[in-house]
Amino acid sequence: GGLHSLFVKSGKLFFGTAIDTNNFNDVAYQAIAKNGSEFGLYVPENSQKWGPTEPTEGAFVFAGPDAVDAQARTNKQMFRCHALTWHSQLPQFVTTTAWTRETLTAAIQAHITALVRHYAGACYSWDVVNEALNDNGTFRDSVFFRVLGTDFLPISFAAAAAADPAAKLYYNDFNLETLRAKADGAARVVQLIRAGGARIDGLGFQAHFVVGGTPSQASLTATLGRFVDMGLDVTLSELDVAHNSVPAAAGALQQQARDYVAAVGACLAVPRCVGITVWQFSDKYSWIPGTFPGKGEACLFSANFSRKPAYGAVVDLLRSA
Ligand code: G3I
Repeated sequence: GGLHSLFVKSGKLFFGTAIDTNNFNDVAYQAIAKNGSEFGLYVPENSQKWGPTEPTEGAFVFAGPDAVDAQARTNKQMFRCHALTWHSQLPQFVTTTAWTRETLTAAIQAHITALVRHYAGACYSWDVVNEALNDNGTFRDSVFFRVLGTDFLPISFAAAAAADPAAKLYYNDFNLETLRAKADGAARVVQLIRAGGARIDGLGFQAHFVVGGTPSQASLTATLGRFVDMGLDVTLSELDVAHNSVPAAAGALQQQARDYVAAVGACLAVPRCVGITVWQFSDKYSWIPGTFPGKGEACLFSANFSRKPAYGAVVDLLRSA
């Protein structure tokens, strides 16, 4: 069995991957992506964000995520949806309009209602609000926070819940795994959503780690448990482990394997960690070198789709689980 089949045997719902239509013509990539034993869930890496789905106000473009959803259906894979209220990859009208509380609230509600309705029944979960926090736990400067304060949190979650009562609604962020102040901020996010009368079902830990700097399994298990204790599901939503310099030497590949094992082991140890999504499975398409030049090789498969030591180590862990 592959990663997903083995993870399901341990009681989890999915081992999935980010993928998008720009990958679809790559035959070697697709042979792995379409193997439902390896990956049991897709999340669109870019095409479902606000910029690509509503480039001009009120005119919606669903072709990209529809195609990702269609390939998932064909292969009986789950579909996770990403992302609604996020400061990045916004269309120009959101960043340039002179919003009032009323008009921005209406624009958020219109966007979320259209997206979540279109994918109602298809999405296992939505990343409703993404990356609202600074690393020190305060709220990130964004059009949403400037105009609405923290009210954009319950506004977003209430709109998503109304449009698809069955989808699990997540807050998603990075560095929650290692920065205590940021995890404290995420706990405040949960409280603010609930205080505003809205529902939140889960916390997404992006798990963008660095080789040798990945939190230990014990520490990650404790951090996940903190949010389970708040009544939430948790997930590792964008897992990858980047080398600080590439090409990686043999020893660094072994450390990367141990780091992947710590992350997957933490999810195994927490019953309400429902699944893991890697943020692409091949180094050929990882986002890391584009954002952090000189770093990368963060995935389970190499750029030519061979299985790296980390792949074997995760499979060994799952076989013995
Ligand atoms: O589509 C345009 C193309 O038309 C243009 O020619 C090209 C030139 O730069 O850019 C293309 O857009 C790029 C887009 O990916 C699609 O490939 C953007 O420049 C690039 O910035 C964008 O990067 C994405 C990034 O989010 C944007 O913030 C990454 O692929 C994607 O992996 C990354 O994913 C995020 C998650 O959504 C949230 N958590 C962090 C994670 C990593 O940054």
